[in-house]
Amino acid sequence: MRERERERERERVMEMLVSHGLCRGSVVPEAYVFSEEQRPTTVSTKRSIPIIDLEEGSEDEVVKEILNAAKEYGVFKVINHGIPEELIDDVISVAQEFFEMPVEDKAPYYSEDPTKDTRLFTGQGFRKENIHFWRDCLIMSAYPVEKYEHQFPEKPDNLKRIMGKFVPEGRKLVRRLLELISKGLGLEEDYLTGDISEGSMKMVFNYYPPCPDPSLTLGLPKHCDITLINLLLQGNVSGLQVLHDDNWISVDPLPNSFVVNFGLLLEVISNGLLKAVEHRAVTNKNVARTSIAMAIRSTDDCIICPAEVLVSEEHNPPVYRSFRFPDLFEVFSTKNADDKEIMMKDFRIKN
Ligand code: OGA
Ligand code: NI
Repeated sequence: MRERERERERERVMEMLVSHGLCRGSVVPEAYVFSEEQRPTTVSTKRSIPIIDLEEGSEDEVVKEILNAAKEYGVFKVINHGIPEELIDDVISVAQEFFEMPVEDKAPYYSEDPTKDTRLFTGQGFRKENIHFWRDCLIMSAYPVEKYEHQFPEKPDNLKRIMGKFVPEGRKLVRRLLELISKGLGLEEDYLTGDISEGSMKMVFNYYPPCPDPSLTLGLPKHCDITLINLLLQGNVSGLQVLHDDNWISVDPLPNSFVVNFGLLLEVISNGLLKAVEHRAVTNKNVARTSIAMAIRSTDDCIICPAEVLVSEEHNPPVYRSFRFPDLFEVFSTKNADDKEIMMKDFRIKN
């Protein structure tokens, strides 16, 4: 009987994942076809997002570049970040291998419970989607590795070893960036490196299989990340687009770089000075795309509010009230997260 149930669960998971099931045919299944207004639109080629070299120029210059990028775009690429290329290739490869395993190796991790430390899901994972997104995702609480590694998938068999190397390196880079941003905002150097960024760091493996007709589908809808910052590796396949002045810009892959994007927590802490960028992922016809995100968020108890030194009642009154991360998560998981204004409505102070 147990075996029968497991078999049924396997079949259910297989049907839902875009890396298996219905999506491997030559036409896009009805459930994945967006209405004309929601389909991917053309991108502007006039702009591209800034590239910041962490080893070029003085620290003050780097800080200035980051702040300019953060104010203008809410996103930038970072190069010369100190993480070895080989490790970056390894983590992308192992993520791809995970999704390309037989369904019986993945099904045990499938869950629709967003509080799980390790879980595999499809689309956005916890909201009833009217139309499905062309993405599978493995999300893992990951830092410190020793605390969570027993929950990482057992296969591919080098996954734990690679995570053990990558996560501490990634975390070091995150810390360095947070110190530079704190400096740029005129905050104490450690303002952003305590509880504000020490909630469980998530490693997010995204997998977008080839799609028979990318013009009808979306990998991820327009959204802002609900985190402090996200660092993304996107290998050599494009698919990420960011919104800038009402135009979509494609974030083209740059080998060995991270895409750093600012999340809603940082927008609040900076009282709106740094923008959480709206972004989406589109699909492509020819190759599977694997991206890896490190998502940095506050602890659940930490109070999030505009930093005191950045507000003054007279000239720069606070735009957001105080809240805790779970309050924002609640809104994200129940409301229409595609719309930044709707997401933030409850947290904005009405003047
Ligand atoms: C995300 C995200 C974009 C991508 O995981 O939040 O926006 O290119 N990913 O995979
Ligand atoms: Ni995102």
